[in-house]
Amino acid sequence: MLNMPRTVTAETLDGLAEGDPSAMRSRRDLQRIHWLMGTRGIMARALQRLLASRPPTAPLRLLELGAGDGSLMLGVARTLGAQWPAVEITLLDRQDLVTRSTLDSYASLGWTASSQVVDVFDWVSTPLPGMHGLNTRFDVIVANLFLHHFEEPELVTLLAAIESRTRHFLVCEPRRAGLALAGSHLVGAVGANAVTREDAVLSVHAGFRGKELSALWTGDPSFWTLSESSAGLFSHCFLAKHSGQGRAGSP
Ligand SMILES: C[S@@+](CC[C@H](N)C(=O)[O-])C[C@H]1O[C@@H](n2cnc3c(N)ncnc32)[C@H](O)[C@@H]1O
Repeated sequence: MLNMPRTVTAETLDGLAEGDPSAMRSRRDLQRIHWLMGTRGIMARALQRLLASRPPTAPLRLLELGAGDGSLMLGVARTLGAQWPAVEITLLDRQDLVTRSTLDSYASLGWTASSQVVDVFDWVSTPLPGMHGLNTRFDVIVANLFLHHFEEPELVTLLAAIESRTRHFLVCEPRRAGLALAGSHLVGAVGANAVTREDAVLSVHAGFRGKELSALWTGDPSFWTLSESSAGLFSHCFLAKHSGQGRAGSP
């Protein structure tokens, strides 16, 4: 098991239309799986750690890549609560999944949320037009259950774009390990449908461990502090923080 190589296989959910009933059901399953994985708490604690040195009242511009329906970060926003400053969050996904009601729920917490429907590699390949448009820089970029969709060459491209557009990056992915694989085979026990049952296993095989994401990060090591480790029972998280002067994040 320790030598389980990383294999990326197209997931069933990614091939289904937004309104397909089994896709809608699978996205609801994902919320239960987040509960089992403790994702909300893991992300909230990691964000607090990543941004601990920022002035507590400084407004925050946050981007989530592969945000899905936006419900995960809404849960994180609820966990972080009123102690957090005004947050402007952009929910980027290639599918149009964020509802008006979800945006309103963010607003009720004092967060300003908007969705951006674009393939992440179009976002990557659009040149930085100063501080405007798709590529406006962000104080922090987050992703959850997203990077495992991609092979290493795509990851290098994506991480390089992230590195040039923020000073703080946080990602949580499936941990490629025996316990996570066993858990992924059991998601049917919490009522997950066939799409979720299949994708859960595929996502663990495409997950990460060790310092695999750090090895793909091309940011100048004299400016970037990296941290990569397991989190909870099934997750693997990577944090990157820029310090000092340099080209990343703000000018
Ligand atoms: C497993 S879901 C995770 C959703 C959310 N982050 C969560 O944890 O609940 C992966 C999401 O990535 C999106 N996605 C996959 N490939 C993408 C791409 N190339 N560009 C943008 N979004 C993509 C899918 O549409 C899907 O919503």
